[in-house]
Amino acid sequence: MKLQHRILVFLFTFFSSFRLFGGEGMWLPLLLKSLNEADMKAMGMKLSAEDIYSINKGSLKDAIVSFGGGCTSEIISPNGLLLTNHHCGYGYIAGHSSVENNILKNGFWAKSNADEKICGGLTATLIVRMEDVSSTLLKGVGSQDFELDRKAKIEKNVAAFKKEYKLNKNEELFVRAFYNGNQYFAFITKTFKDVRLVGTPPESIGKFGSDTDNWVWPRHTGDFSIFRIYADKNNEPAEYAESNVPYQPKHFLPISLDGVAEGDFTMVFGFPGRTNEYLTEEGVRQIVEVQNPIRIRMREKALSILDQYMRKDEATKLKFAASYASISNAYKKWIGENQGIKQTKGLEKKHERDALFQQRVDANANFSEYKNLVSELESQYKSLEKLSRATEIYAEAFQRNVSVMNFYSEIKEVMTAQEVRGEKIFIEKRNELHEQAEALVSGFNKEIDQEIFTALAQIAVEEMPKELMLPYLREQLKQKSVNEFVVGLYRESKLTDGKELKKLTELSYSDMAAALKTDPLWQFYDELNYYFANDLSKQSVPLQDKIVELRRKHMAALMQVIPEKKYYPDANSTMRISFGRVEGFSPKDGSCYKYQTYLDGVMEKYIPNDYEFDVHPKLIELYNTKSYGQYGENGKMPLAFIGSNHTTGGNSGSPAIDAYGNLIGLNFDRVWEGTMSDINYDVSICRNIMVDARYILFIIDEFAGAKHLIQEMKLVHPKANSSKKKKKK
Ligand code: ARG
Ligand code: ASP
Repeated sequence: MKLQHRILVFLFTFFSSFRLFGGEGMWLPLLLKSLNEADMKAMGMKLSAEDIYSINKGSLKDAIVSFGGGCTSEIISPNGLLLTNHHCGYGYIAGHSSVENNILKNGFWAKSNADEKICGGLTATLIVRMEDVSSTLLKGVGSQDFELDRKAKIEKNVAAFKKEYKLNKNEELFVRAFYNGNQYFAFITKTFKDVRLVGTPPESIGKFGSDTDNWVWPRHTGDFSIFRIYADKNNEPAEYAESNVPYQPKHFLPISLDGVAEGDFTMVFGFPGRTNEYLTEEGVRQIVEVQNPIRIRMREKALSILDQYMRKDEATKLKFAASYASISNAYKKWIGENQGIKQTKGLEKKHERDALFQQRVDANANFSEYKNLVSELESQYKSLEKLSRATEIYAEAFQRNVSVMNFYSEIKEVMTAQEVRGEKIFIEKRNELHEQAEALVSGFNKEIDQEIFTALAQIAVEEMPKELMLPYLREQLKQKSVNEFVVGLYRESKLTDGKELKKLTELSYSDMAAALKTDPLWQFYDELNYYFANDLSKQSVPLQDKIVELRRKHMAALMQVIPEKKYYPDANSTMRISFGRVEGFSPKDGSCYKYQTYLDGVMEKYIPNDYEFDVHPKLIELYNTKSYGQYGENGKMPLAFIGSNHTTGGNSGSPAIDAYGNLIGLNFDRVWEGTMSDINYDVSICRNIMVDARYILFIIDEFAGAKHLIQEMKLVHPKANSSKKKKKK
């Protein structure tokens, strides 16, 4: 081979390893035309970028709604019907459930608009438009500015921009940083505040498989629920009022009855929360080797204790189901993340990217200012390592997984109100807490909490770098064991009792402070808080700020130095589009996952009376008689499918859309093997999980008999139509 040829081959193989695979990326709707339209069309999409995002006409984006701030939802009827996940609507469904009328257990279907349930506090936010405001917000900012100056200038620019910007009635504006602070976009939004619960399947469908199946493929969860947006008589946002009417959207998604086939184009449109795709090798290493292991170890312990108690009796199981689910959700994700990074050689890939970057920088005088970026980042991360580790240990051992600390932070808020905002606010906050005191403590079990606290404190003591040990704890442990220490705290504390907590919230500020002073659990909490704010943070914040600065510079440099790659900004809870295909995958050597599951799998997993795998008798009957209506396929009922769309937390409830703009599924999860997509998307094992739209319709129509809801929707046959058209030609 000639040298020239060899170089070409080398370059080709080199770059193809950096190639942006079909599924990677969470793209900005505004930039779709310039960055993605061609790729999307090449993959089979029949829409134009303008059909997806337009400010001149109704487009897909007008049907995409941020649900309550943390999830996504979409409008599926001309009357503001809103589809999201069961796990996104969970709090509202549970809130409307009681022993006599347990809609969590039995499901609920409003027979008419009047029957729909009010959900106080729930919001639905539409994006009116977005704008690139980088040049306005970065005006006067120099590349050599000190970080503090930079921050101040940007803040000033934001304030001026917001003041000048002309918003229409009911519109709101916020700005967000993209590409680690190199670019800024403004979002003009409209938030609806009257959103009502319309329907939900029973938990045995909406949460089928619960925590055991969470993050797992093959999956059989009908994770959906239905709401409706209400507006005033002018179709504008309004607080709840009986006179409000269903919202008439600019666009709603038709629903396809044609199902999916392997290789079909899909896109997921929603509000992904947070990703970190551009970390250097050292940044990823710290997540994988420092952060995740300690989190996993702590949570494994907490979950095993909870599980023991939950298995012993029904009441405890119910009481802790929600907190078990939340501790376990992240726990499972982190395990999957670490395994995935290992399996796909994630660290090596980051290493290669760093090396290529460095090699090009070293070879080009124009890039000389980037010379030390990667190594500086590495040394900053290393300086932070011990502190991050300590912070993680404290947070996992004494905050996130121990319930008692939650009401302490509530009390702290009340105390701080007096210290910062004066007595009037203190009294307001104190009275609020007074009302909530018993409810707060009602989900609490002293015995379990104490056992978890003891076990986690033990791990914390073992794992904590000596010099970062809370001095108060070190002193205490000179005289007693961890167990004796914790037992003492709980025995002498009065704050784990609802009545005592209520009494506390009747006191004046000074009496409250005095009462707290003598409470040992409070003392510990307060010492910990103080240590966090005054010792740990003082050391770690400057390092973190430096990392933020370096990451911003590195991001900009990366885009310049390796320009052949297309860059999407990390997720930041703003509206994004991911696209990929319906496709199965091979999780490990010798095994292969298909792309689709069926109702048959529910019956395979069925465990009578189990709280995770029980099946509703009506569903069994429909299965036995194959009564799938117009929703079945070859005598089977499709249930869920997977695809290579790049998604993350926040994408729950996002619509999966076909090549023509119709809803084909409802995103709700990812496969366990591929949860490392947040830091290292790899198309070989990263898949998002969607409920098949036909299963949703089947449950509403055949299972619940809520035909009136089906009649509101627009059901279509895009595949049949397109083949008819082809034949005509
Ligand atoms: N894993 C999904 C997500 O991250 C679903 C979580 C809700 N379900 C559960 N069983 N905890 O949010
Ligand atoms: N289950 C997640 C959510 O609730 C989605 C994900 O992490 O893939 O947003």
